[in-house]
Amino acid sequence: MPMIVEDWDRLTFRVNREAYRSSEIFDRERDNVWLQSWLYLGHETEIAKPNDFIVRTLAGRPLIFCRDTDGEVRAWLNSCPHRGTVLCRETAGSSKLFQCFYHAWTFRNNGDVAAIPDDSAYEGSEGLRESMKLRAVPRLEIHEGYVFVSFNPDVPPLLEYLGGAADYMTMIEQQHVGGMTTLPGVQLYSVRGNWKLAVENAMDGYHFSPTHNTFVGYLRENGFAVTDDDQYAYNLGNGHSLLVLTGHGGRISMIWEPRFGADERARTEAHRKEMAERLGEKRAHYVADESHILFVFPNLLLFDIEGLSIRQLEPVSAGQTDVRAWQLVPRVEDPASRALRMKTVVSFVGPGGLATPDDIEAYEAVQRGIEATAKERRSELDFSDMSRGMIDEVKGVQGRSIDEGAMRGFWRHWVGAVGIDNGLRVVGKRPASFLEGRDVR
Ligand code: FES
Ligand SMILES: [Fe+2]
Repeated sequence: MPMIVEDWDRLTFRVNREAYRSSEIFDRERDNVWLQSWLYLGHETEIAKPNDFIVRTLAGRPLIFCRDTDGEVRAWLNSCPHRGTVLCRETAGSSKLFQCFYHAWTFRNNGDVAAIPDDSAYEGSEGLRESMKLRAVPRLEIHEGYVFVSFNPDVPPLLEYLGGAADYMTMIEQQHVGGMTTLPGVQLYSVRGNWKLAVENAMDGYHFSPTHNTFVGYLRENGFAVTDDDQYAYNLGNGHSLLVLTGHGGRISMIWEPRFGADERARTEAHRKEMAERLGEKRAHYVADESHILFVFPNLLLFDIEGLSIRQLEPVSAGQTDVRAWQLVPRVEDPASRALRMKTVVSFVGPGGLATPDDIEAYEAVQRGIEATAKERRSELDFSDMSRGMIDEVKGVQGRSIDEGAMRGFWRHWVGAVGIDNGLRVVGKRPASFLEGRDVR
């Protein structure tokens, strides 16, 4: 049964709604994507000091994300090597040791066994302490402070995997002298929708004006024009995608707009000048003058818009997704700009902001609505349409952010990665000008 029907004769692209509903597909995604790919675990600055730790679940696996006493970043399975108990039951803190509550085996944060109570009874058990060390996640690599792990020991190097997405993460790091840091605290929420709806939503400029009309109205009242012109969507390869936005919202310390107030204007101009000197005008232009929404397949979204948010997706079941979000801020920043930044970020992409509740309602409404066509005899009705802007792929012109090209790129990659037999049906011939995984600059 095809999951995707891409028809070049009719210029239609349809996605089978079972992809959002089926627990079989969810299990297959777990095996073939989440346990094979690189996954975003967290930001290095969340565990800034030696002995800091955070407990976090990824691909359904409980993990301890920590910095050991020597300063090295680690990711351990949060499961006692003795009999499997959850080892660390705090959510976050600072500790050199993790002690299991069940039989009190104790481990150092570098994985070594520190103590086994009454270990004389293990006399003769050869190499016990060596074989009972904490289990590391097989691979861990860091790019610009973003810590990725993989449960697949044979996954290609991180930078190779990130490909064209890597530089957009570097661009964020280059926004300010001294780089970026996460702020303490995480926003957690759970959505009754499939994780892929969250990806689609972030790559979907088409919904912006109708869904967020309150926000658009507010911008207009404050003298800021909203436009969809010159905004593009790019497929960066490996399922990663990017929206480049210039048509709405300012950028704290980079693009001033009236709602930021007069004081911020001078600071913005000074910072923009400093950026041009430090990075060169061309690079500074790409870093400062456009907003980016970057999706790194499969679980990381970076909203480099008014302010900066990191969003991580953790699918729980086909119809349920946990979302975690952090604010990323310059390490060095004027307190007034910081306050403005926080206010701006929470008022739009925060869980109680002007955007996110609308978006969550949209993808929960999709999850509810698609029940209407589940097991529908007219099986062609149980498909969602993502054809918008396909003509640009025929013409070989860059797709717009308000079309659905970034979503098509995501789904084409997804169907290959999940490995569904005959999952992609291509009708007609892909045009010669069709470019996939195109890098932009
Ligand atoms: S299961 Fe952890 S000490 Fe026994
Ligand atoms: Fe939205």
